Amino acid sequence: MSHDKSSLLNKTVEHLDLTGLKGCAALVKAMGDTAFQARNLSRATDIYEMMLKDKDCMIILCLAGSLVSAGMKKIIVDMIENNMIDAIVSTGANIVDQDFFEGLGFRHYQANPYAVDDNKLQEMMIDRIYDTYIDEENLRDCDHTIFEIANKLTPRAYSSREFIQIMGAYLMKHGKNKNSIVRAAYEKNLPIFVPAFSDCSAGFGLVLHQVKNPEKHLAIDSVKDFRELTELKIGIKDSGLLMLGGGVPKNFAQDIVVAAELLDHDAAMHKYAVQITVADERDGALSGSTLREACSWGKVSTTFEQMVFAEATLAFPLLAAAAFENGAAKQRSAKHLSKQFPSLMEEEAKM
Ligand SMILES: NC(=O)c1ccc[n+]([C@@H]2O[C@H](COP(=O)([O-])OP(=O)(O)OC[C@H]3O[C@@H](n4cnc5c(N)ncnc54)[C@H](O)[C@@H]3O)[C@@H](O)[C@H]2O)c1
Repeated sequence: MSHDKSSLLNKTVEHLDLTGLKGCAALVKAMGDTAFQARNLSRATDIYEMMLKDKDCMIILCLAGSLVSAGMKKIIVDMIENNMIDAIVSTGANIVDQDFFEGLGFRHYQANPYAVDDNKLQEMMIDRIYDTYIDEENLRDCDHTIFEIANKLTPRAYSSREFIQIMGAYLMKHGKNKNSIVRAAYEKNLPIFVPAFSDCSAGFGLVLHQVKNPEKHLAIDSVKDFRELTELKIGIKDSGLLMLGGGVPKNFAQDIVVAAELLDHDAAMHKYAVQITVADERDGALSGSTLREACSWGKVSTTFEQMVFAEATLAFPLLAAAAFENGAAKQRSAKHLSKQFPSLMEEEAKM
């Protein structure tokens, strides 16, 4: 493509004018006239709003890192309740150790990362995630609750989506905090997939369950997860990814396009994709790999994609607040995607 000089020197950088600026949406829009990650975030917000206005699009929220313990939970709960996402792919840390944990009534605490020797914390059974603390005894209660849930279920292979739905039913009955992703998703029939389900608090509970029940125990079938999410992709015209962090959720959600093709379905690449990540692309690793790179694998279309190189606790609230303020999801209704799978009523009733 050839460019002439005047077409390149066409759009000026505008200086952020904070005087008289009203609200977050206006700030994010104005950031679009600046540069660097501010402009990237502004475009990412536009793309997310395009997903919200596209009735035929399934929006998948991908979560890595420690976002729930860092105070991002209610934004996600509100997004579920306002039909701003249709499915979640996450690490177990966010969904089990942090969200289900808080659903049971436990909390995370603010900490000064340099104030107390970590050996001392270990003696006191306090776990640290950068500048937050967790009471290890509460976490053990959470592991044990998973063990108890598993013991009540018919021994068979469950997708993590099925198991998390049953955890939602458990919270409906025994939960002590309604502000929960797992619970809100249960109420909206919104599927949550955790492909590496045993790599978190759930793993401890499930190991104990299998060891105590050597003959008859349940198992988590991550292939079933992949199949279920692929079925959702096959059943809908378009899809969009809103990714916070990278890791397993990023690749898992992208790969369903390839899996759909393998099953002889002419599935479109993800039409929209936004990723907020602190990783960069130089190491060739997945978390910082660009969405353009994902296009070479046939997973993501390059038309509406945006990487935002930023820490998610800063960038995600801005993106979400602007989308809320602009009312981009007003015309959207819940997709209730979990209803496409066989009922779990019998298992849920055991909670
Ligand atoms: N994070 C925890 O505290 C924790 C606790 C228990 C278990 N685990 C388990 O460890 C495994 C790996 O977790 P993971 O994939 O989240 O690994 P991870 O925490 O290394 O995150 C993956 C990548 O996402 C990006 N990222 C993470 N947090 C970010 C943020 N706040 N802002 C922007 N980008 C961010 C980074 O590029 C990072 O390399 C999972 O199975 C998880 O369940 C994690």
